[in-house]
Amino acid sequence: MVGTMAAVKKGIFYGIGVGPGDPDLITIKAAKILAAADLVITPTKKMGSPSIAFNIVKTHIPDLSKVLEMNFPMISLSEEREVLKKQWEENADEIEVLLNEGKDVAFITLGDPMVFSTYSYVMEFLLKRNIEVITLSGVPSFCNLGAQLNIPLTQGEESLGVVAMTQPIEEIRAILDAHQNIVVMKISANNALMAEELEKRGLEKSFVLVSNIGMETQKVVRDIAVLKGKIPYLSTLLIKKNYPID
Ligand SMILES: C[S@@+](CC[C@H](N)C(=O)[O-])C[C@H]1O[C@@H](n2cnc3c(N)ncnc32)[C@H](O)[C@@H]1O
Repeated sequence: MVGTMAAVKKGIFYGIGVGPGDPDLITIKAAKILAAADLVITPTKKMGSPSIAFNIVKTHIPDLSKVLEMNFPMISLSEEREVLKKQWEENADEIEVLLNEGKDVAFITLGDPMVFSTYSYVMEFLLKRNIEVITLSGVPSFCNLGAQLNIPLTQGEESLGVVAMTQPIEEIRAILDAHQNIVVMKISANNALMAEELEKRGLEKSFVLVSNIGMETQKVVRDIAVLKGKIPYLSTLLIKKNYPID
């Protein structure tokens, strides 16, 4: 008798935004997928080192044996683009093997998956391979900054610029000049330079810096002297030209 093998249905790749820090801020949909997925991938800068995203959602994963660490080294995208791309592609290869086995794989990521997230690069590799990808929004860190402090990010006709401090300073200056409200992410990449830019524009009282938003260690800074010193990686700056933050 000749047996027929049923084709294995490919798994779905889920990208799950876990918000900036408070475990209660993940969506109901994200919690359902975390409970149901066959595997949960937690990206880590160094194997064995704690992942921030995992610490946020661990209480939503009933079976921790399905958690898989995946290494995403912390190197500069502008200087080491090729090394990073190779690593992302290798990670996408590894995920594709799991999906081909029929496993649903959830990839957790800090904040929102579509805002400055490594997840988006892995997602692009997988989309090219005709894999079903479902991305679930998370609360972006800068939105939660506004909510935590009860400060609107934009009102009425105002604009909001979002920039990363890793971008060339000319681009950052153009955004500082163009918008009434500016969010600066990855501010720890060069916070002293931003402090100078604020002073040059007379904006030294028009900012708020928040570190570890939504975590027990959350810290709010309005002092320009502190902005000139060492600050945590998980820090976001909000500048509001028409809304002195006092
Ligand atoms: C690689 S980006 C990730 C952004 C994330 N996808 C989001 O939607 O917020 C890392 C930057 O996000 C910001 N960030 C993320 N979580 C944060 C938190 N809990 N507190 C303060 N800033 C945070 C910081 O500016 C940090 O340098």
